[in-house]
Amino acid sequence: MNSVVDQTVAPLGECGTISGGAGLPNPRTQGCCGSLRRAPEASPCSKLIKLGRKKRISQSVRLPQTQYMNIPVEPSILYFGAPVVLISTLNEDATLNVAPMSSAWWLGWNCMLGLGATGHTAHNLQREKECVLNLPSVAQVEAVNRLARTTGSKPVPPHKVAMGYRHEKDKIGIANLSTEPSALVRPDRLAECPVQLEAVLETSRPFGSRPDKDTTAIAFEVRVVRAHVNPSILLDGHENRVDPNKWRPLMMSFCRFYGLGEEVFPSTLAEIPESFYRPVAHMAR
Ligand SMILES: Cc1cc2nc3c(=O)[nH]c(=O)nc-3n(C[C@H](O)[C@H](O)[C@H](O)COP(=O)(O)O)c2cc1C
Repeated sequence: MNSVVDQTVAPLGECGTISGGAGLPNPRTQGCCGSLRRAPEASPCSKLIKLGRKKRISQSVRLPQTQYMNIPVEPSILYFGAPVVLISTLNEDATLNVAPMSSAWWLGWNCMLGLGATGHTAHNLQREKECVLNLPSVAQVEAVNRLARTTGSKPVPPHKVAMGYRHEKDKIGIANLSTEPSALVRPDRLAECPVQLEAVLETSRPFGSRPDKDTTAIAFEVRVVRAHVNPSILLDGHENRVDPNKWRPLMMSFCRFYGLGEEVFPSTLAEIPESFYRPVAHMAR
């Protein structure tokens, strides 16, 4: 049984569930997580209750609470949520290819990208060693969706044919997007995206080792050499800081589109000045 509890207003029982419901762990025999009892300080639930006493930023956040009795499962994919990126690369004939992707994360100004090895973008990136990571906001979701199940590859690889993909040469046209020149790399930026990161390829390696199958993906490490953002997402009074309350990235979770909710809690990590993370005074090509 799942109990949905508004943590901001409802008094919490152990595990955030309302006590007395059917199927709840027996407090005599079990700890609050459905496991054997342990010292209160080691319990994740005691931490939850502690946090619950601090003031939440958003009073409207409602967290569905289960009974902390997770079960082993085998989902086909483990796409628990990541920002969508429209990656632009140059084709062999110097035209632009654009592909939606979401296996991307950043550390400083470096970024790891996970791309299918047979994809057109992977070939372009290996050959040209440059790309632009265009980050759409939730406002560009329809453009992103128009690019879904298209590929710059011709012929379309058999596994993509089976999933209903088609070849598309003019990705910009079908997505109804526009381009603007980049400053330091050859692929253009996508004008509608509020964040555009020009990047160069540093390294790549096969990704997804398994005992029973060859790898089908490549992990690319790229380094951002120029960042462009729309002034509307900058923190008031700061020319080099993005305001996360203004930036509404488009997210993908289990192949579906989402936005971010409101900020939920004062972050201890965010107390460190952002400038402490700056790798060098000025980014260079
Ligand atoms: C929202 C979204 C996210 C995607 N994420 C990835 C990804 O992280 N890696 C990947 O290889 N393909 C991803 N895809 C699938 C690619 O877009 C697809 O393979 C496409 O054919 C690539 O285009 P290309 O062959 O022209 O490079 C995603 C598609 C969508 C719509």
